[in-house]
Amino acid sequence: MKKNISSAVINRLPRYRRYLADLLDNGITRISSQELSKKMKTTASQIRQDLNNFGCFGQQGYGYNVELLCEEIDKILGLEKNYNLIIIGAGNLGQALVNYANFKNRGFNFIGIFDINPKLIGINIRGLEILDTEKLEEFISKNDVDIAVLAIPKNQALDVAQRLIKSGIKAIWNFSHVDLETPDDVVVENVHLTDSLMTLSYRLSEKRK
Ligand code: NAI
Repeated sequence: MKKNISSAVINRLPRYRRYLADLLDNGITRISSQELSKKMKTTASQIRQDLNNFGCFGQQGYGYNVELLCEEIDKILGLEKNYNLIIIGAGNLGQALVNYANFKNRGFNFIGIFDINPKLIGINIRGLEILDTEKLEEFISKNDVDIAVLAIPKNQALDVAQRLIKSGIKAIWNFSHVDLETPDDVVVENVHLTDSLMTLSYRLSEKRK
């Protein structure tokens, strides 16, 4: 049975995953919620509550088995499998995303990159040839694409999103500054770096008051 977990808890899981992976890299195989809370600058009770949601109970006097906990979080986050991504828009952002090697280490593989600019089409980015967006539907029908990334101007994003959805894409990582209306079976994750900067500027201005 699916349990309803709050999005706040889900949003914290990647951070747990990051800290746990660092521990494993440093040869640490078990950790108490107290120790983890000190590293993560949060409370031990928050960690226990969050992880109890998923049946990840630390043992009294032992703490958490870091490897098992990582595996559990991977299962919850769907990270046991690899994902194929395509990116629409091969400008500054699109190329930067494809060039960031760490996505591949986490199982997110870019398999296609598309643009409408003839000057960009045919250029090779990290082993991927930029393809004409005209070929989008054909590419999706021939390849197993899990996630499409939108890195195009907002006036293009709605049209392209519709094309992606019609072609069967079920997940969109949306960097374009527009809210997408999608059917229930399509998930969208919006990323707005400026929102994060504005939050930072708010916190800075509060400190300066
Ligand atoms: P850019 O101008 O360098 O690249 C945009 C690319 O999209 C261009 O190469 C253009 O030819 C291409 N394009 C336009 N229409 C297209 C279509 N229908 N199909 C395929 N390609 C198309 O811009 P940049 O800096 O890469 O930003 C891309 C978009 O992402 C912009 O809308 C920008 O506002 C947004 N952005 C969002 C961020 C965020 O945090 N959400 C951060 C940075 C940019």
